[in-house]
Amino acid sequence: MSVTATPLSQADNAPLTGVDAVVLVGGQGTRLRPLTLSAPKPMLPTAGVPFMTHLFSRIKAAGINHVVLGTSYKAEVFSDYFGDGSKLGLEIEYVIEEEPLGTGGGIRNVASKLRERDVMVFNGDILSGVDLRSVVHTHRSSEADVTLHLVKVEDPRAFGCVPTDADGRVQAFLEKTENPPTDQINAGCYVFKREVLEAIPTGRPVSVERETFPGLLEAGRRLQGHVDTSYWLDLGTPAAFVKGSADLVRGIAPTSALPGPVGESLVLDAAQVAEDATLSGGSTIGAGCVVGAGSTVEAGVLFDGARVASDVVIERSIIGAGAVIEAGAVLKDVVIGDGAVVGSRCELLGGLRVWPGVALPTAGVRFSADG
Ligand code: GTP
Repeated sequence: MSVTATPLSQADNAPLTGVDAVVLVGGQGTRLRPLTLSAPKPMLPTAGVPFMTHLFSRIKAAGINHVVLGTSYKAEVFSDYFGDGSKLGLEIEYVIEEEPLGTGGGIRNVASKLRERDVMVFNGDILSGVDLRSVVHTHRSSEADVTLHLVKVEDPRAFGCVPTDADGRVQAFLEKTENPPTDQINAGCYVFKREVLEAIPTGRPVSVERETFPGLLEAGRRLQGHVDTSYWLDLGTPAAFVKGSADLVRGIAPTSALPGPVGESLVLDAAQVAEDATLSGGSTIGAGCVVGAGSTVEAGVLFDGARVASDVVIERSIIGAGAVIEAGAVLKDVVIGDGAVVGSRCELLGGLRVWPGVALPTAGVRFSADG
């Protein structure tokens, strides 16, 4: 009988007990530069609040109260914002890696803070709708050493895949290939028996994906897959970040931390949006932003204090804090760093990134041939 995604009984809807949460947030977020030069990826404003706030809301809703963050890059940004976690009804502790220890090293490094028999580990950049209680249920009912949330994706070729047998037991960790034998991929959320976590080597970088899991499999330990098809997105790239933020605003991705009603746009405090401006596609207009007359923002993410003049077109783009977009500019699928200025009639397309504070002159960068 398969134990993957076993439905919960009524009693299992009770808050989870015997589980600590660990969130890995130490990565540099290079694919999201230049936004991650000033803030770590999990702290970037996503649908109006730092991404971590959405993840914390899901951890809290499952009934887990004690959360340990494995930090490294810009560690203080997390503790300055969340403190002891009491405002969220959580107890948050922080562990800092002087040198980044990788995902496995980061997990091992928080061991001294753990209290419970099971440890639920999250990558700090995954937006997911998986039922956390049922992942723990799978772990306990299969008596696994580690349970991995595996999500079924439409195109598994871009990922390593993780086949399981009829009982849901992990069979292998396979590298990316053109013909993957399964559509199940590692979703970046695990439940460890605490003693298994404590056996990860200390004092050196370890990759949980490349070293710990294959090693456990080789050693004959029980690795269980919890397979589901719920919402799942890795927010690691600008395109994914824009999509994740828009899905949160539109209620497609689950959260209870949205600072406003679900809809086609989210406009934060003290933002001024001209009456004939159009906001759509799950756009976020940050606190104190301005959007001028005749401008359209579709699936845009405007960080606090960004100013958009009149007749600007923004599609699927991230505009950093305090950036200025002058009249008639067109921005599609781009990232604008904090405080940058995009001159009037500039036309920025297709993956372009403007670094913080850079000022592009009027019509200074265009894709089209006309000036
Ligand atoms: P890129 O540089 O763009 O690949 O992003 P990243 O640095 O976040 O790497 P990746 O997306 O592979 O990381 C997955 C998760 O693990 C993220 O939540 C990271 O914050 C976290 N992570 C990656 N490396 C480390 C590390 O050395 N220590 C800790 N504590 N967390 C890490």
